[in-house]
Amino acid sequence: MAPLPRFTDSPALAAEALRADGLVALPTETVYGLGGLASSPAAVARIFATKGRPATHPVIVHVRDSTAVDAWAKDVPDTARLLVDAFWPGPLTIVVPRADHVSDAITGGQPTVALRAPSHPMFAAVLTELTSETLPAPGIAAPSANRFGQVSPTTAAHVSDELGTHLRADDLILDGGECAVGVESTIVICRERDVVIARSGGVTEAQLREVVPVADSAATRSTPRVPGSLASHYAPTAQVRFVTSNAELSAVRDELSLNADVGVVCLACDSPAAPGHWIRLATPASVEQYAREVYAALRRADELGLTHVVALAPPDTGIGTAIRDRLQRASS
Ligand code: TXA
Ligand code: MG
Repeated sequence: MAPLPRFTDSPALAAEALRADGLVALPTETVYGLGGLASSPAAVARIFATKGRPATHPVIVHVRDSTAVDAWAKDVPDTARLLVDAFWPGPLTIVVPRADHVSDAITGGQPTVALRAPSHPMFAAVLTELTSETLPAPGIAAPSANRFGQVSPTTAAHVSDELGTHLRADDLILDGGECAVGVESTIVICRERDVVIARSGGVTEAQLREVVPVADSAATRSTPRVPGSLASHYAPTAQVRFVTSNAELSAVRDELSLNADVGVVCLACDSPAAPGHWIRLATPASVEQYAREVYAALRRADELGLTHVVALAPPDTGIGTAIRDRLQRASS
């Protein structure tokens, strides 16, 4: 049996592994990322191989703070500056014109680069450790630490379950506990006068609108090469039924026989509406808790060998919008 990658809680060890072109699964406030030095072609190539991700899909470059933006981007629109000042460090990714040195492997050949400064203190500590005279604004390329198309990991154990056999023995998993937000960052394409939301996430549209104009969401549909925007993504093996109304719930209840092994994910206040024999995978008390628990619940369904997961949608406000987006895709 191949030796599993080591767990650590040391940002210094993580930085050392990254400097040696190794891969490190890193905790962020959203989900765990599979990180490699963005300036290392070898590390970036291994990220794609380890995830089984098509080479044309771009990855986010994670930086320490707003001072790193100009090291990775050029002709940065004012909208990007305003957003970075308002939401970094935090669950917001900006898409801006890339600096000349940024490789096609990172950007999928596009003229833009996606940048984000995570707020998890261990991630920030790794970036601080990496900062040196030769690497004044280190960037860590990191997609979510799951196999392509699968459910994103929100604990170090999930990463090990998901990628353990695909990582090398000298790679590391930096254990930073459970992710505080639980769904991915909001991605915005920054233009001169407004921004386009390419993926809903930890920063809500209402929060964005307090800082910059947000373009009509119809424009989002034409956004190229965002894997999360593929119809089927974030999906467990169990079939996910995404339910947004009582009528839909009745239909699903009638359709799934008594013999089906069904798990349910819903707000605690909606739980009485689900049949008693359905297994409660998560019954969060708030929409924020729903975001934190939804991916773990989908994983648990597969561990339990369930055939179906019925997910009752949270309200379409705040982070509920991102949860609905992910469940919709998981059900495609
Ligand atoms: O919360 C997050 O964003 C997590 C943590 C680890 O930071 N990362 C994450 O990465 O979700 P990933 O690779 O699973 O999703 C990143 C998304 C992809 O859909 C990718 O296509 C998009 O960002 N993206 C990256 N660069 C882009 C670019 N230049 N233009 C448009 N989309 C881009
Ligand atoms: Mg992902």
